[in-house]
Amino acid sequence: MTTNQGTNQRVISGMRPTGRLHLGHYHGVLKNWIELQHNYECFFFVADWHALTTHYEEPGDLQQYVTEMVIDWLAAGVSPGSATLFVQSRVPEHAELHLLLSMITPLGWLERVPTWKDQQEQLREKDLATYGFLGYPVLQSADVLAYRAGMVPVGEDQVSHLEVTRELARRFNHLYGREPGFAEKAEQAVDKMGKKAAKRYRDLRKRFQEHGEDEALEVARAMLESQQNLSLKDRDRLFGYLEGGGKIILPEPHPKLTPTAKMPGLDGRKMSKSYGNTISLRSEPQEVESQIRTMPTDPARVRRTDPGTPEKCPVWELHQVYTGEEERGELYEGCTTAGIGCLDCKKPLIASIQEELAPIQERAREYASDPGLVRSIMVEGSEAAREEARETLEEVRRAMGLDYLR
Ligand code: TRP
Ligand code: SF4
Repeated sequence: MTTNQGTNQRVISGMRPTGRLHLGHYHGVLKNWIELQHNYECFFFVADWHALTTHYEEPGDLQQYVTEMVIDWLAAGVSPGSATLFVQSRVPEHAELHLLLSMITPLGWLERVPTWKDQQEQLREKDLATYGFLGYPVLQSADVLAYRAGMVPVGEDQVSHLEVTRELARRFNHLYGREPGFAEKAEQAVDKMGKKAAKRYRDLRKRFQEHGEDEALEVARAMLESQQNLSLKDRDRLFGYLEGGGKIILPEPHPKLTPTAKMPGLDGRKMSKSYGNTISLRSEPQEVESQIRTMPTDPARVRRTDPGTPEKCPVWELHQVYTGEEERGELYEGCTTAGIGCLDCKKPLIASIQEELAPIQERAREYASDPGLVRSIMVEGSEAAREEARETLEEVRRAMGLDYLR
């Protein structure tokens, strides 16, 4: 019923505070955020409550982890001038929405989420048979739905959580989107668009409802997106009316998969803190050099005179990220004919990574020396985010019949 994208130009994404970030975060997430922030209305937040779902025993580390991570965001180029940066726990509306959504969340939906079982097995030393951890996807849904965001940039591993979010939005709208006199109110809203637009809307609606023309639905939605003279409420009604259902209170978000391939780490596996194969964004030039110098190479290339097979070498994987095609061709030739040694091959890589990190580290030093600035970015961002979430919660409460003491 409710596949509309609502305020679909809005993007939200969160990251659990894991402390300092590495090149995997930079290439896999941050570069994408930095691009999105220029084209969409973006909200990026620190998911500190989510961190507690698995690390509830060590809350003391949170503050440091949050600060270090946010400094890395800023240093990488995520900009408080272009996006709203905030901290989840400073916006209590997330918790309220989590509670309300929990009322309509069937247990089976949560038990089916693959990460629930997988993480319990992977983090055996922790007791993750908790209510909070089972509800992880409900909290994540609240994060997204509180902003009525249309797009959520995430990695493959988060798709199952987003699926819960979409199902919850649908269920919520189905249960609570049926206001009395919906059709009359929708018709009045149609008229508010003006004669021409109203006729066009009715036309498109009919084409979709009577002839199932998906294209008509798309066009009508685009038309609603660009309508200036409609209140948010009327617009949501008209989105719902298009498909015949009730009012859409919580639009379904769409996952936006990060386009970059997975970033290889120092051992050829995906770069990840848990593999201990990362290069930190704060890795000093000498450290980068020694990390690359000590990287394993093609194990069959024992002596300098042995030709190598780049496909079997983790260094080669990193060249895919950092080195242009032409130079890569030369290195390939050099390796397979034993024309170059592994150190010759590593040198340009060391230089590229150092060059990439230099400006990031310079900005990180500036932010690190001004904790007050970082703090105020977070506080102000959280207040701005809260304004948005507050509006959604007002509607949610009203829809659920919880506005009687107002
Ligand atoms: N679960 C996400 C992760 O581990 C973090 C997250 C929390 C998130 N809330 C979110 C991501 C909302 C996108 C939208 O990466
Ligand atoms: Fe790997 Fe380069 Fe050595 Fe070949 S020359 S084995 S690609 S490091």
